[in-house]
Amino acid sequence: MSSPSTSGTYGLASTSAAGIASAPALPYLPRLPRSYRPPIGLVGCGGISEYHLRAYRALGLDVVALCDVDAGRAEKRRAEFYPGATVYSDYQALLRHRGLEVVDLALHPRERAVAIEAALRAGKHVLSQKPFVLDLDDGARLADLAEAQRVRLAVNQNGRWAPHFAYLMAALRAGVIGELASADFTLQWDHTWTAGTPFESIHHLVLFDFGIHWFDLAAELTRGRRPSRITASVARASFQKPRPPMLAQVAIEFPDAQVRLAFNGHVLHGQEDRTVLCGSAGTLRSAGPSLSEQAVTVHTVAGTATAALEGTWFTNGFQGTMAELLCAIEENREPSHSGRNNLDSLALCFAALASADTGAPQIPGSVRRVAAH
Ligand SMILES: NC(=O)c1ccc[n+]([C@@H]2O[C@H](COP(=O)([O-])OP(=O)(O)OC[C@H]3O[C@@H](n4cnc5c(N)ncnc54)[C@H](O)[C@@H]3O)[C@@H](O)[C@H]2O)c1
Repeated sequence: MSSPSTSGTYGLASTSAAGIASAPALPYLPRLPRSYRPPIGLVGCGGISEYHLRAYRALGLDVVALCDVDAGRAEKRRAEFYPGATVYSDYQALLRHRGLEVVDLALHPRERAVAIEAALRAGKHVLSQKPFVLDLDDGARLADLAEAQRVRLAVNQNGRWAPHFAYLMAALRAGVIGELASADFTLQWDHTWTAGTPFESIHHLVLFDFGIHWFDLAAELTRGRRPSRITASVARASFQKPRPPMLAQVAIEFPDAQVRLAFNGHVLHGQEDRTVLCGSAGTLRSAGPSLSEQAVTVHTVAGTATAALEGTWFTNGFQGTMAELLCAIEENREPSHSGRNNLDSLALCFAALASADTGAPQIPGSVRRVAAH
């Protein structure tokens, strides 16, 4: 990819002999701390922990303790990734592990809030899986507690570091397409693997457990603007077997912008994931058959350019969330994906769930909690 132009604006690079310009070089890859590599403990060794540990091992991070109520799961992860780690079946015991500084909580939200509080009270920095909390006031209280304890609390919104989303956000921040007017996210994918797992008992599986990534992206893309209202609905496809509605749509309205989300989680053939951001000076588009196979194009007065990006949703995502937390600790600043920052994402999500449940538009921030899922 080309370097930013010296004029201070991000123009498209010169067109190649083949007539295809490359998009501006922008910082989209996870940034590592200079030297901070603290002892890390992971609580919850279920399905997603494999990707956490894979990412941490690739970065050379030091995972010293693993915990699961089902100790066999923690032992399995130890054998796969960190043979020197100590295994615990009680996270209170893990919190007493000598020298432990950072705790990664890969639990479901119902068990997680109390574990976050215990870790913060034990003076540990915390990376919480998403969705962060079920109650915005609990989330604010945990963010206050982290401040009082002088530790950092971050949320594992790995989507922000997926290469295509990280690039789109960097391009928007750099002014490549000017002022954002609309964002459209359309996803047709196969979420039927959740049948028979604990995820099937989550009614708003698509809008809450999965959709939180897109509410988080919507909140990031529109930061500084105040959403006026949200309308959402869900439906079950006539042929679907999993219990949660697999169809969902959301409209987030601002006085001067609109964000739309369209989800179909029951697409077995011809899947596509597409994001289109339109601004005063151009359009950013990313599309592909999955979240890890995306082609990004930049359209401005200079023409159309493509961005060749490295990495995938899970690899860059889980490296990015932990690396940003470690950078924030090292630099003594709030992480960009802090618990407090996440409350704006959850406010959008909770309002959408209430709209889907009541059929009425909702004002983000007015819906403070969601039923335990
Ligand atoms: N960021 C992402 O892209 C992403 C992807 C998948 C899952 N997740 C989230 O991660 C969380 C976990 O998902 P998962 O797929 O790994 O679930 P899972 O059900 O496979 O694993 C959860 C694990 O936690 C353990 N556990 C439960 N209570 C515990 C306790 N008190 N102490 C220690 N261990 C305990 C369980 O035994 C289980 O092994 C969920 O909130 C999910 O939404 C995030």
